[in-house]
Amino acid sequence: MGNLKHLIKTRRSVRRFKKRPAPRKILLEVIEAGIRAPSGLNNQPWKFQIATEPGLKNLISGFTLDKYSKIIREAPALIMVYLDKQKIYDRDKDIMSAGACIENMLLFIHSKKLGAVWLGEILNRKKQLQNKMRNRKNLELAAVIALGYPDEKPKNPGRRKLSSFLLKC
Ligand SMILES: Cc1cc2nc3c(=O)[nH]c(=O)nc-3n(C[C@H](O)[C@H](O)[C@H](O)COP(=O)(O)O)c2cc1C
Repeated sequence: MGNLKHLIKTRRSVRRFKKRPAPRKILLEVIEAGIRAPSGLNNQPWKFQIATEPGLKNLISGFTLDKYSKIIREAPALIMVYLDKQKIYDRDKDIMSAGACIENMLLFIHSKKLGAVWLGEILNRKKQLQNKMRNRKNLELAAVIALGYPDEKPKNPGRRKLSSFLLKC
């Protein structure tokens, strides 16, 4: 448990990566960690696409702001997380389940001494992006995770104090 607390505290969003590829075995382990997350009715409403090929990463990078597209192009790997429309039973809960899955993946990535960032801005153009992808009819993009070996030590952006979140009853 001490180790988990440490991992939770020290995980940072990493946006600069070394060129060294992320081994496919680790990418599959990351997804394995993701699918262990809880989901409403255990419906597991997710699908994943691994993107490592430069042409594909370039295509994807064209659907977010310039400041984020560089991250997508330069990350050795992307894990595209989709909601599986055929599995959806309650949109709010399914999106929350996807969030739990993504956090599992981020913590696992950190535990393996890799780094990652959860990219959400790209969702503003998810329809346009998905129109360019094959076999994506029953899917809805939920997030893109860019990952690889870190080439930066990001500063801790900090959090507001615990007491600021607690409601007085
Ligand atoms: C739903 C969501 C969407 C995010 N979208 C982006 C994004 O589009 N680009 C980006 O650089 N970071 C994105 N982030 C990462 C946050 O900026 C980051 O988690 C936050 O600043 C706290 O930093 P930390 O992860 O290092 O603790 C996103 C995070 C979440 C949870």
